[in-house]
Amino acid sequence: MRIPFIDLPGQYRQSKKVIEHELNRLFGRGDFILGESVKDFERSFASYIHSPYALGVNSGTDALFLGLLSLEIGRGDEVIVPAYTYIASAFAVTYTGARPVFADIDEDTFNIDPHTIERAVTKRTKAIMPVHLYGQAADMGPIRVIARKHGLRIIEDTAQAHGATYRITENRLQRTEKKTGSMGDIGAFSFYPTKNLGAFGDAGLIATSNGQLYKKLRKLRDYGRISKYVHGSVGFNSRLDSVQAVFLNAKLRHLDAWNQKRVNVAGMYNKYLGDISGVRLPRAAGYGKHVYHIYAIRVSNRDKVLEGLVAAGVSAAVHYPVPLHLQPVYKNLGYRRGDLPVAERVCRDVLCLPIHPHITEKQVAYIAQTLKRLVKNV
Ligand SMILES: Cc1ncc(COP(=O)(O)O)c(C=O)c1O
Repeated sequence: MRIPFIDLPGQYRQSKKVIEHELNRLFGRGDFILGESVKDFERSFASYIHSPYALGVNSGTDALFLGLLSLEIGRGDEVIVPAYTYIASAFAVTYTGARPVFADIDEDTFNIDPHTIERAVTKRTKAIMPVHLYGQAADMGPIRVIARKHGLRIIEDTAQAHGATYRITENRLQRTEKKTGSMGDIGAFSFYPTKNLGAFGDAGLIATSNGQLYKKLRKLRDYGRISKYVHGSVGFNSRLDSVQAVFLNAKLRHLDAWNQKRVNVAGMYNKYLGDISGVRLPRAAGYGKHVYHIYAIRVSNRDKVLEGLVAAGVSAAVHYPVPLHLQPVYKNLGYRRGDLPVAERVCRDVLCLPIHPHITEKQVAYIAQTLKRLVKNV
């Protein structure tokens, strides 16, 4: 049996009719850059995450980078980033001239550990970048408390968690369920094709509830433009294409249903893998909805198990084998092995199993059975 890590053609088939209809309309209009479809998508997505403002950009990396620039973060500043995430989270900080300072993660949720954030704060710290990894919100309650205490901004990297939620305690009596990307100063989304909401190429979005930041970001993504050929500040070409916006708008209608299917698949894995000793299953923290962008287990002898799965036709993968503080590119920051032990341990034994809305129970059962055999024999 061949089981892919993700099934993008399956997603396309479900939204094909709407996409074809809307693309025909777009081709008739010809507004390919920041056109009507982009505005439509920005409105729909802002409403989906309950954020007053949303701005389409060309990638998740640019969403983070422009978000940091709008907060006036640059040379001499520090931004706290988890040591275990995709490299783009830290690169966005580096692009601004600021320094990423790495915090460790929680052993069970893979997300940034608020205790280690507090220890990483210095006089130069300007912001915290929680990354909602694998589809689960970081523990935003304590993170917001630390940010308030030290006067720090929050930029959420929610590239992997479209539609995930977190219950914020507003006061003793009231808890509000918030979507990731709507809890900080800036929420940065990636729509890289494999994400829970994926475009058919590169795309991203910045969310904010701050009208001033929104105005700044509009200029930053489009050459600092005040009017067609008048430029008030240095800006970038980071615009969302209308074609991508058409795809995203059509797929957004399915996002909640697809996320629910991912939750169901995670439930199947939990059921089939629950009794294998030596396999640690992912934990959904009780504070919100996990949308399982990735289903990550932990297993000793990981590389051998991965080899066996791939040989049996299962496209398992390792996200991520090297923590950011030990990446060659960040050698100059002076971190050593052992500095962030949880992230380092996870990199050694994490293993991501195929999960997507169209995977079948038969396929999950086959993966579980293969894994059982491998764990016993390697
Ligand atoms: C956690 C995280 N941050 C940032 C990014 C960057 O997004 P993009 O590839 O759209 O630039 C990604 C994904 O690629 C990601 O997984």
